[in-house]
Amino acid sequence: MQTNWVPLFPDQASTFAWQVDLLYAYLIIVSIAFTIPIVAAIFFFGLKYREREKYATPEEMHGSITLETVWSIIPFVISMTIFLGGAYVYYNQYTPPKDPALEVYVVGKQWMWKLQHSTGQREINELHVPVGKKVKLTMTTEDVLHDFSVPAFRTKADVIPGRYTYLWFEATKPGKYHLYCAEYCGLNHSGMGGWVYVMEQRDFDNWLSGNVSGQTPVEQGRDLFENKLGCASCHAGGPQQRGAKLEGIYGKEVKFVGGGTATVNDEYIRNSILNPSGQVVEGFQPIMPTFKGQVTEEQLVSLVAYIKSLSGVTGSASSAGSTPTASNSAANTTTASHGNANTQASNPNAPAANSNR
Ligand code: CUA
Repeated sequence: MQTNWVPLFPDQASTFAWQVDLLYAYLIIVSIAFTIPIVAAIFFFGLKYREREKYATPEEMHGSITLETVWSIIPFVISMTIFLGGAYVYYNQYTPPKDPALEVYVVGKQWMWKLQHSTGQREINELHVPVGKKVKLTMTTEDVLHDFSVPAFRTKADVIPGRYTYLWFEATKPGKYHLYCAEYCGLNHSGMGGWVYVMEQRDFDNWLSGNVSGQTPVEQGRDLFENKLGCASCHAGGPQQRGAKLEGIYGKEVKFVGGGTATVNDEYIRNSILNPSGQVVEGFQPIMPTFKGQVTEEQLVSLVAYIKSLSGVTGSASSAGSTPTASNSAANTTTASHGNANTQASNPNAPAANSNR
């Protein structure tokens, strides 16, 4: 429902939509409050001092402490309120909740969004969520950089090759809201969008049960781990095992051969699969082969979900790398480049892959 005459703003449909709008309104008011007096003063002084002879040599001024103090303090207060307001909204938006009611894995791809619920349901270019619940998205891409954007929720985040980014929201009213890719990603970028359906819990439960769920990400991950990729032959956890025991590893700190440590999070697990020799943990030999090119991003997401489940983690309580900016920890950024080399192998301009939209 649009409440304004000209639909300049989309619906406010998430818990932080009003905060973003309030901040934006504040910026507009500040801009107007400066622009009008400045333009008025230009005209006023232009008229008042237009007679050249009479005012040729103006009177000298010798400074005024009061004036200087006032024009320093007022802009300081204004800029600090903008900064603090912006920081508050930003941290609120980009710190995912520790206990999301719903977790969804998102893989971007030229030119579609592939989403999977932690209960197994898959969707393409559509996302169904319950109203009034915290929803957390763990996102990555198979090819180039995309950006997951839902204007009605006033939130968006880059989806970056070779790393995980997170987004969360709590929808406040049922409805159908546009979902966009907000980063130019090739020929059909403009068509890379869809809808977020916010439903009452009851309707959402119906929707969930009415959809074939198939394997959940954890089950897929276990299948890959035990059968398809054979990870279990080294990582099953017995005394004769060459690979690390993975039970309980999530969230722990590991020490690397040759110094350095890292906390085991989504990113670390992903990098360990794609680039195992880049971060050999103390007490182990660098014998694990890389799985780069053998697993898709969707399979990686499942493997990460499975390995997390071995530590009893269902929601992803990732500490590092939770923001979509460059503030990831050093351990993440150094190894992320390897993932890039892998995923960018596909041609960003290739017109293929569009048929399965
Ligand atoms: Cu994907 Cu633009």
